Amino acid sequence: MRVFAHRGCSGEYPENTMPAFRKARDAGCHGIELDVHLTRDGEVVIIHDETLDRVTDGTGRVRDYSLAELKKFNAAALHRDTIAFEPIPSFAEYCAWAAATDLVTNVEIKSNLVYYPGLEEKALNLVRKHGLEKKVIFSSFNHGSLTILKKLDPSVPCGALVPERGLVNAGLYCATMGFDYYHPAFSSIGPEAVEECRRHGVGVNVWTINTLQALKRCRLLGCDSVISDFPDVCLAYLRGL
Ligand code: G3P
Ligand code: CA
Repeated sequence: MRVFAHRGCSGEYPENTMPAFRKARDAGCHGIELDVHLTRDGEVVIIHDETLDRVTDGTGRVRDYSLAELKKFNAAALHRDTIAFEPIPSFAEYCAWAAATDLVTNVEIKSNLVYYPGLEEKALNLVRKHGLEKKVIFSSFNHGSLTILKKLDPSVPCGALVPERGLVNAGLYCATMGFDYYHPAFSSIGPEAVEECRRHGVGVNVWTINTLQALKRCRLLGCDSVISDFPDVCLAYLRGL
């Protein structure tokens, strides 16, 4: 079972920042999950929310700032005691860094609350530019974004994110839509859902696994990957088996 660092090692480090990503690499994670949006000047940036308010010292919408303007905000504002300043990473910077690692990157296209025309193609172009095509999984709650990606490149792996209640026919749905993975919340999965995905050749990557109990259950169910805020704890347990 693969272990992905959710927003990097976000249980310990500022989420979606390079320190959180570097920690994931150093811990031996199989991959990193991160979230992308588009700036006013059309650059792909890594941040979870559509606004700056929760995790930075800025306010307002990501889409209303240029990349240069966004770089002035502190993405480590919730970690001031340990990190003085950490900029919001651009996806281009991240890709250049990830290209020198073995990490698989799960790029969540955050297009479900604000739709950013062109975000899918820009993110894919950066993946291609840095040779990460074989080391990426795109995911989104907006399955239209995944369909756009599949039209641009049918071979690019895509995972359908769904809200907490899950889907009754996830395997059939993903297979019909041409998606490679199902990305459910832990609360919605059980043996039937995993088996139904298996039957349709669809992989199962589960979020957000932050207890050993949840990790053990995912393993018993035969999930392909877990996405965790504490991936180092997950890895320590799995390595000890
Ligand atoms: O990709 C799994 C998970 O990241 C989806 O929820 O809100 O943490 O982006 P969220
Ligand atoms: Ca996410």
